Amino acid sequence: MIGLAHTGKTFRGRDGAEVEALRDVSLSVADGEFVAIVGASGCGKSTLLRLVAGLVPASTGTVTLQGQAVTAPREDTAMVFQAPTLLPWADVLRNVTFPLRLMGKAGSDTEDRARALLATAGLKGFETKLPSELSGGMQQRVAICRALLQNPRVLLMDEPFGALDALTREEMSLELLRLWGERRMAVIFVTHSIPEAVLLADRVVVMSPRPGRIADIVEVGLPRPRSFDQEGSDEFQRCARRIRDRIFGERRAAAA
Ligand SMILES: Nc1ncnc2c1ncn2[C@@H]1O[C@H](COP(=O)(O)OP(=O)(O)OP(=O)(O)O)[C@@H](O)[C@H]1O
Ligand SMILES: [Mg+2]
Repeated sequence: MIGLAHTGKTFRGRDGAEVEALRDVSLSVADGEFVAIVGASGCGKSTLLRLVAGLVPASTGTVTLQGQAVTAPREDTAMVFQAPTLLPWADVLRNVTFPLRLMGKAGSDTEDRARALLATAGLKGFETKLPSELSGGMQQRVAICRALLQNPRVLLMDEPFGALDALTREEMSLELLRLWGERRMAVIFVTHSIPEAVLLADRVVVMSPRPGRIADIVEVGLPRPRSFDQEGSDEFQRCARRIRDRIFGERRAAAA
C-alpha cells in the first residue's frame, strides 16, 4: 500500500543551511497494516508522515501509494497533525465534515456519522462549539474524528494522543483500534510512548537520531483484539524492552 524506497529528505533552512532530516529510509506498509514509529525528538518522524501525505517532496528515493508516485495530497489519505489544525471560525461539526464537503463527497448520512464519531470521542453536546471553546485535548479529538470520517485508505497520525490525559489516551487508543478493526486502513502512527506503540501496532519502527534512519523494526506478536491487560504479558515486555534498548543504544551511539 505505502512504499518508501531509499527515501531521504534534506531541508534548506531560512539561513541557507541544510538539515538532513531523513536518510535512506525503506519501508513498506501493507493495506490494513498498523505501523507505529518511535524515535527521539527531531529524528524526522513528522517529516516521514509529510512525505507520505504528499505535503513535501522527497529529496532522494521514492514515495509510492499503491504503486503510484505520491506528488500531492490524495483524497484517500487522511492526516492527524501533531498540533490540532482546526478552522477557528467553524464549529465542531463543520470542522469534522469539512474535508468531505470540500471534496464534494458529503452525503445525506455524513452529518449523522460525524455526530456518532464525536459521541464516541466523548464530544457529544459540543457539536456547535467553536475550537476556541474547547481544551487542547478536545480539539485534538475533533481532528481525529475529522480524519476518521473521511474513511481513508491511509491514515497518518502524528502523536495524535500527545495532548490527552492518560485515561482519555487509553480510551482513544482502544476506540482507534476498534474503528481500525472495522475498516482496516493502513495506519502510520507516530508516538513517543513505547507501551502505546506496542499495544496498537503490528510492527514498530524505531528511528535513529538525525538524520533519521530505520534502526530496527519490531514485530509485535500479541493477539488481537488488544487490551491493556496484555501489558503484563511476556510478548509485550519483550517488545517494549527491545524498542527501549534500541532507542537508548542509538542515543549512546549518537552521543559518542
Ligand atoms: N520545513 C522545514 N524546514 C527546515 N527544517 C525542517 C523543516 N521541517 C523539519 N525540519 C527539520 O528536520 C528535522 C526533523 O524534523 P521532524 O519534525 O520531522 O522531527 P520529529 O521526529 O517529528 O520530532 P518531534 O518528535 O519533536 O516531533 C529537524 O531537525 C527539523 O528542524
Ligand atoms: Mg514531530
